[in-house]
Amino acid sequence: MIIDQIKTKCIPRHVAVIMDGNGRWAELHGNDRIYGHRQGVDAVRSIVEGAGEIGVEYLTLYAFSTENWDRPKEEVNALMSLLVDAIVKEIDNLNEKNVRMRVIGNIGSFPEYVQTKLMEAIENTSDNTGLNLILALSYSGRWDILQAVKQIADKLTSGRLQENKINESVFMSHLSTAGIPDPELLIRTSGENRISNFLLWQIAYSEFYFTPILWPDFRKENLFEAIADFQRRERRFGKTSEQIRS
Ligand code: IPE
Ligand code: IPE
Ligand code: MG
Repeated sequence: MIIDQIKTKCIPRHVAVIMDGNGRWAELHGNDRIYGHRQGVDAVRSIVEGAGEIGVEYLTLYAFSTENWDRPKEEVNALMSLLVDAIVKEIDNLNEKNVRMRVIGNIGSFPEYVQTKLMEAIENTSDNTGLNLILALSYSGRWDILQAVKQIADKLTSGRLQENKINESVFMSHLSTAGIPDPELLIRTSGENRISNFLLWQIAYSEFYFTPILWPDFRKENLFEAIADFQRRERRFGKTSEQIRS
């Protein structure tokens, strides 16, 4: 079994996923795009379970990008209700699996009812100590960097921060992912080889794993496959192979 190929000692602490291909999956199955999004929830359930099983600490899922607001209104609305439905339906399952749900993104841009449900789920799972499930919603890497810059500018103006104190760790503490380690592994489904404005600062040294599988077909076995692949790589961080091995 694929899970047996995984070395339990080198599990990435943080895995980020660009869940792509719902629309194409739906088209292949002769249905509308919304149907594809709905099927995508099964894939989410499976990998949340799988990530918890092997001890991943943080799983960040790109569920709705800043750019996705530009999709047809009906699709955006359907995604909102699907998100709320899925959260309400899955909450007991998350608690049972000891999963803590969190959110990154411009949450203020969501309709009030969506924000309320998100806050309830965050609150409801906040005592869980297992996997941290981070949903990236109305998120983009550039948005994240800009909002950090604005916070820093504000602190400089009001004298709460000195310019010479700004370094990488201070900057990172203003990103929406403050306190969360950078993802060691970034997975994108559906055969697209791009980042689409996902975590930009945070993926500076992530390993990328691109797979042609469309998101609704992705299951925890595919996650294990990606992690096994990740474990076969040598991460050098600018050093030589010799330095890493010694
Ligand atoms: C990913 O699937 C889900 C979201 C972006 C919300 P898509 O809807 O992008 O599916 P494709 O890329 O059109 O197949
Ligand atoms: C990226 O997928 C965003 C999410 C998965 C939420 P898209 O389907 O929006 O990306 P592009 O437009 O093909 O780059
Ligand atoms: Mg897409």
